[in-house]
Amino acid sequence: MGNVELSVIIPTYNEHDNVRPIIAKLESALEGINWEAIFVDDDSPDGTAKEVKEVGIEKQNIKVLHRIGRRGLSSACIEGMHLSTAKYMAVIDGDMQHDETRLPEMLECMREGADIVIGTRYAGDGGTGDWDVARIGMSKFATFLGNFLLRKNKTSDPMSGFFMLGRGLFDEVNKKLASDGFKILLDILASAGRKLNVKEVSYTFRTREFGESKLSLSVLGDFAMLLIDKSVGKFVPARLVMFVLVGLVGLMAHLIILGLFNRLFGIDFTVSQIIATTVAIFCNFYFNNIFTYGSTPLKGWRMGVGLVLFFFICGIGAIPNVLLSQYLYFTDGLYWMVAGGAGLAVTAIWNYTISSKLVWRK
Ligand code: GDD
Ligand code: MN
Repeated sequence: MGNVELSVIIPTYNEHDNVRPIIAKLESALEGINWEAIFVDDDSPDGTAKEVKEVGIEKQNIKVLHRIGRRGLSSACIEGMHLSTAKYMAVIDGDMQHDETRLPEMLECMREGADIVIGTRYAGDGGTGDWDVARIGMSKFATFLGNFLLRKNKTSDPMSGFFMLGRGLFDEVNKKLASDGFKILLDILASAGRKLNVKEVSYTFRTREFGESKLSLSVLGDFAMLLIDKSVGKFVPARLVMFVLVGLVGLMAHLIILGLFNRLFGIDFTVSQIIATTVAIFCNFYFNNIFTYGSTPLKGWRMGVGLVLFFFICGIGAIPNVLLSQYLYFTDGLYWMVAGGAGLAVTAIWNYTISSKLVWRK
């Protein structure tokens, strides 16, 4: 087979019906190039991995890394690239929404010395196909935020899941990449410590024919986490920052409810306080599940168990809060905000540490 010049990494989850069509499309697009496909499948229930293996029996250049008990788009791409020994590696979705006919042009850019070539929907004659206004809006907003982070290596489409890079760049960044999440391209661009030679090739996002999208609301949380990690992650764990941000939202909910019930409706302070606390804990649990732990959210009955546990943990966490702030306020005579803040900080660290071990343990 000779030296493979290009590995095409294809992350898949429940893409059974897309396997043979995408291989056929790649074969015709990459005619004359020495290439291979590396599918990375997370043990899809629909038997995607088995389907690839069947094709692989006849075709030497079709491989699959079958991961058991794992999930995640970024880690799938990274591990697929680790399996490759080719000079260039492309990442493309397994559902044919990316335009594989652009691969030869991307390869040409790589041969001419690019560090990375990005398939973009937002330049040249690229496009988002049949997306609705909401999705276009969200994508544009994410693009804007993404570029905010990428001071050195800006691109018209940092959220793209379609790109090609060389082994040199991969070796430089692979240890710095966050393995949970979806935003692998943004992560690569942000993790490179130098100005890269970035090239772009435009394409139009196609409509999915078989199967369905796996990206949901948790993409938002995932994206926010990456932004935090790449901006202040060197100094504090991104998860803790997210947890505190969510906590602030919970605190606002608490104060609003307390104000409404006690001040406006004249309900007893203790009763109002209990209701406000309960709602705040609910809020914190819900948003932490989407944002802080968006890559491994609790679902179904596990969510119920997690919620009960979270209530207990927060309840215990309230004790040092009250004790410490009272001590600082009455004994040391500290200003009320400082005393209250110190109590809250201890509670936040307790809640975060214990809940990450017990509620959202992997
Ligand atoms: N191995 C593995 N594990 N593959 C996964 C997983 C996972 O947990 N989740 C999704 N995939 C695969 C899908 O099977 C598909 O081949 C590809 O990753 C993209 O997933 P989709 O669910 O089709 O994503 P999308 O079409 O909604 O989003 C696309 O557009 C985004 C930009 O708006 C993707 O290209 C994203 O990467 C891109 O950011
Ligand atoms: Mn898709």
